[in-house]
Amino acid sequence: MALSARLKAEFDELVTHYPERRAGLIPALHRCQEELGGWLSPQTLEDCAQFFGLDPVEVYGVATFYPMFRMTPPGQHTISVCHNISCALRGAEEVLAHVCRRTGAKPGGTSPDGQFSVLRVECQGACANAPMLDLDGTYHEDLDLAKVDQVLDLVAQSARAKQGATP
Ligand code: FES
Repeated sequence: MALSARLKAEFDELVTHYPERRAGLIPALHRCQEELGGWLSPQTLEDCAQFFGLDPVEVYGVATFYPMFRMTPPGQHTISVCHNISCALRGAEEVLAHVCRRTGAKPGGTSPDGQFSVLRVECQGACANAPMLDLDGTYHEDLDLAKVDQVLDLVAQSARAKQGATP
């Protein structure tokens, strides 16, 4: 059972806010993802199914329908590339392809070295400065491929500096 006593207690309280127990599933999945390493493992989905009295395939269907739920462990850094209309018109697919080439991750996946997760996301509200990406919560806008390289190089430099700082 992946659900801690604390999470179960939280979910017991959570379901009191809904007319049906199953309606608490999505907020519960968010909490699981926050608490259990940033993704939803098969065991977590089964545990949620058991808790909410649902068939595991229903929980799997919900978790895989919404892009905010991850089915694989996240990398150390998350790069979200917007592919909505403003960004698409200004080269988002090229940006995404370049990010994938540089990191070795496929959209929706994690690079083989575990450093980067790459996501293709909907509008991030920075359309005036398209195309854009979000690296660990920081927006990088008005991108071209050289700027993408600068952003990724900064991450690599920072990782090297941290390794050098480790005693
Ligand atoms: S379309 Fe990309 S930020 Fe809005």
